[in-house]
Amino acid sequence: MTSEVENEVPVEVPVSEPHPGLKPPKIKGGLPLIGHMIDFGKNPFEFMMKARASCGELAEFKLFNEKVVLMTGPEANEAFCRAPDDQLDQSAAYRLMTPIFGKGVVFDAPEERKNEQLKILMPALRDKPMRSYAGVIAREVEGMIENWGEEGEIDFLAFTKELTLYTSSHCLLGKEFRYDLNAEFAQIYHDLEQGVQPIAYIFPYLPLPSFRQRDKARVRLQSLITGIIEKRALSPAKQEDAFQMLLDTSYKDGTKLSPHEITGMLIGAMFAGHHTSAGTAAWILIEMLRNPEALKSVRQEIDTLFGADGEVTFESLREIPHLDNTIKEVLRLHPPLIILLRKVAKDFHYRDYTVKAGKMVCISPPVSHRIPSIFKDPDRFDPNRYAPGREEDELPFAWIAFGGGRHKCSGNAFALLQLKSIFCILLRRYEFELVDPPETYKDDYEQMVVQPKQPCRIRYRRRRELGGKTKATPTGSGHAELRLEPLPESTIGQLHVVVDGQLCQGHAACMAEAPEIFQVDSQGNLTLLMEAPAPELYGKLREAKKYCPTHAITLVKS
Ligand code: F3S
Repeated sequence: MTSEVENEVPVEVPVSEPHPGLKPPKIKGGLPLIGHMIDFGKNPFEFMMKARASCGELAEFKLFNEKVVLMTGPEANEAFCRAPDDQLDQSAAYRLMTPIFGKGVVFDAPEERKNEQLKILMPALRDKPMRSYAGVIAREVEGMIENWGEEGEIDFLAFTKELTLYTSSHCLLGKEFRYDLNAEFAQIYHDLEQGVQPIAYIFPYLPLPSFRQRDKARVRLQSLITGIIEKRALSPAKQEDAFQMLLDTSYKDGTKLSPHEITGMLIGAMFAGHHTSAGTAAWILIEMLRNPEALKSVRQEIDTLFGADGEVTFESLREIPHLDNTIKEVLRLHPPLIILLRKVAKDFHYRDYTVKAGKMVCISPPVSHRIPSIFKDPDRFDPNRYAPGREEDELPFAWIAFGGGRHKCSGNAFALLQLKSIFCILLRRYEFELVDPPETYKDDYEQMVVQPKQPCRIRYRRRRELGGKTKATPTGSGHAELRLEPLPESTIGQLHVVVDGQLCQGHAACMAEAPEIFQVDSQGNLTLLMEAPAPELYGKLREAKKYCPTHAITLVKS
């Protein structure tokens, strides 16, 4: 019996059998004591592009006393992402976050406790709460532009930073922070961020003024959170936010989370989603303005789907192909995280190479995203590269803006929902143009989370009329037409479902689409109710596969 994977390039997990033992090639240059720090610090993206050009898939360099091996390309990315934590240790690579998240929280917790903590936050990112976030985000956007007037000029990155601070704090921290503690929280958050700088990788506790501010902010935030915990305990009304989830949850051993842990985990959730989304939102507008054809397609699509005042809902945001592809292309060219690091805890073998324990390994999304054999003409902004027939992102672990494998960003579905929500409102209300010459908008590699360099000036003018008049129905039925295309002949046959347990994070979107096939419990554990569903369920099955945020579902035809 033969089988093939439907709509997917077969996953070929790199077999590291050959003859491991070779040392990864080293990058030339570097100075005594500091190694390649100067070139890397000037422009890490360019440095890593040159490293791949001169050494290939693996390239070793030195940053002070750390030896770092850069791995690039889909197969190397997959080997990195699928390696177990006791071999490639994520926590050891992110010690700079300990003063911010707190001792014993996330990266500073023992492996099992860290995984438990990360799992506790997952319900806030599951399918059900996500449905309520679309409306919250839409209201925040409307609120922010309420006083824009007919026309004006803004720093668009400053705008998206403020907006995403509101949306993230509203959805994650709750109403108290969003409405009562807004100004103070913005200051605390700013001070905490000052702790995230390259020097903190090596000396996180130096007596620097910025580190003292960071520590004071952490203490203040914990005292505010303790106050809210006490108030909520006395209130009969139950809130529905990530904060409340942390209050209501216990560890497996029955102990409740302490205010110290709750504080750290909420900061972690904010840090993961705030700047990354702000920078991406800014780049989406810049790239659309630099590429008028892309902007035209997206605007027409949004006008057609929503009309003048169609409501932005979870359902209506699910499938907006031109906007989806535009966001994907922005994330290919401008991924906010340009380097993902691990410490090698046990010798790590890849093809003929061995990376010795004690070194660091990293992957780089923007470098892997510019491999011309995968992404044709890779420096060109071309959202159509993901359209049916081209699908340049189809190769597993080729497009890795959200990382991949067990540590893939669990907030990726929230991030996409937020970005789509923002532009479905902004583009219906206003026309935009760049204030400065298009080529002057560049990535700022001095930031740990890469964003457009400021100033990032944009001019806006209220739209006089909409291009499209069709108003979307609240159920999003207009989108169903887009989704339910006739099945190609070649896909008819018995389908078997395979779920990759390493990739599944318990988002439960599959259960929402096909409850007959998938069941996810309150802990996020998935049970496959049938492996070979009846053909009448194939439509639902394909939707489940499509909307799984971690691409954990594969359909195999036999
Ligand atoms: Fe897992 Fe994806 Fe379902 S993460 S629970 S297979 S939506």
